[in-house]
Amino acid sequence: MLSKVKTCVLYGLEGYVIDVETDLTKGMPCFNIVGLPDTSIKESKERVKSAIKNSGVKFPISHITVNLAPANLKKEGSQIDLPIAVGILSACNFITEEIEDDICLIGELSLNGDINYIEGALPMVISLRNRKFNKVIIPYDNKEECGCIKGIDIIPIKKLEDVIDFLNKDIIIDPYNTEFDDTLINEYSSMDFSEVKGQPALKRAVEIAAAGAHNLLMIGPPGAGKTMIARRIPTILPDLTFEEALEVTKIYSVSGQLKTKGLVKKRPFRAPHHTISRVALVGGGRIPRPGEVSLSHYGVLFLDEMPEFPKSVLEVLRQPMEDGIVSIARANATLTYPSEFMLIASMNPCPCGYLGDSRHECTCSQSQIDKYLSKISGPLLDRIDIQIEVTPVYYNDLNDNKVEESSKQIKEKVQHARKVQEERFKDINIFCNSQLTGKLIKEHCKIDKESEKLLQTAFANLGLSARAYNKILKVARTISDLEDSEDIKPNHIAEAIQYRSLDKKFWR
Ligand SMILES: Nc1ncnc2c1ncn2[C@@H]1O[C@H](COP(=O)(O)OP(=O)(O)OP(=O)(O)O)[C@@H](O)[C@H]1O
Ligand SMILES: [Mg+2]
Repeated sequence: MLSKVKTCVLYGLEGYVIDVETDLTKGMPCFNIVGLPDTSIKESKERVKSAIKNSGVKFPISHITVNLAPANLKKEGSQIDLPIAVGILSACNFITEEIEDDICLIGELSLNGDINYIEGALPMVISLRNRKFNKVIIPYDNKEECGCIKGIDIIPIKKLEDVIDFLNKDIIIDPYNTEFDDTLINEYSSMDFSEVKGQPALKRAVEIAAAGAHNLLMIGPPGAGKTMIARRIPTILPDLTFEEALEVTKIYSVSGQLKTKGLVKKRPFRAPHHTISRVALVGGGRIPRPGEVSLSHYGVLFLDEMPEFPKSVLEVLRQPMEDGIVSIARANATLTYPSEFMLIASMNPCPCGYLGDSRHECTCSQSQIDKYLSKISGPLLDRIDIQIEVTPVYYNDLNDNKVEESSKQIKEKVQHARKVQEERFKDINIFCNSQLTGKLIKEHCKIDKESEKLLQTAFANLGLSARAYNKILKVARTISDLEDSEDIKPNHIAEAIQYRSLDKKFWR
């Protein structure tokens, strides 16, 4: 007997439909899987055998051939266990009802017949919905992450036995459905901007960065509050929208960091240690996984003490920062993961940390300083929209009883500026100023004669690149959005230029 059921494998975040064809014939009893299965799928034979036996069904003593079609696509993942088991049960007529073409099955089997949690269920379900499937059977533990997808019936099941009964129409299982609940989004952490005393210029720069999702580099002496402020940035970032939450959750789903929880509702904040490898940063590996740049998609990638990272590791950031996606080449396919993150970096101006600090003498030699700063290459620096020099905190600020602006107040301004941007970009596929490119910059960042003059002077004096020129326009656009000003004014341009002057000062 021959049977055919459908399942799904992932390439990056895109799911592809696989036909699992099973043929039982008379002859020497054996069990073969063909059609470019990887090792995890070859191992599935043993799990499927035991799971079927332990579900109260006699495993057929026949010549079993399972073909995974299309044969030219390499298949990875243990989610193929369940469709293989169902294919065998259907071929030996234990499942008597015909399995319709619009049902897809994904799930890993355990030896006792339980259906285990799998990684990547959400992107698979979304792809299946887009490919017009009506029903998908998923592991019960994946139901929270998939439940909010509309347009496809999600059937969460705990045991192989129940799948048999469900397909035989002996039991009815209602599709699982949840609504996106945004009330939980706001509880970020116990940290608040009101704890940061003084530092008005730095706070302003951080507010602009958050409002337009711009990259930010802070340079300053030890103990000035760089790390403290960076860790509070998530508290002022705008809430994730449903679409953004889905995108972020897909990435966490394939990287196995979701466990049994539902959608990711907070903007990611990733702060990898400087010993991180290149693969861990951008993704890849034998079984490809998204790296930190993708795990911080729509959120913040914070590199504290940036010059401590090996230069080769920092340089791989250039492509994802520019393109917003990472491409990973595999033997027979190229995977892509999204990586639209806000880079927040902090560093000291020299190895001892006190260069330019009027209260401490810097003990570094010029060559030590040059070596330290050269860790950050010109092209990387050029990709940073806002550079800000952090001054030491003054005693009066620390001791002052003045009430500092809270995260809530700053977030309101940021949210407002994002709304303005969303409205402006509603017809094109972007939502904030940092995503503007070539032609769009021309269209949305028009400036007057006076601003042009300012830019011209800065261009000559600071030796700016074409990229820096565009970045100034984008940052100025965000500054004007924060002020609710339709036009970019000369003072907006002047402030934006000031955020590009540090490379000239430190990296002459
Ligand atoms: N502006 C500030 N207001 C209140 N406390 C501050 C401020 N700046 C620093 N502090 C205090 O100093 C501690 C150290 O600050 P932080 O770790 O942010 O310094 P840093 O600039 O990152 O220094 P380093 O260059 O050594 O990493 C903070 O945990 C905080 O307690
Ligand atoms: Mg620090």
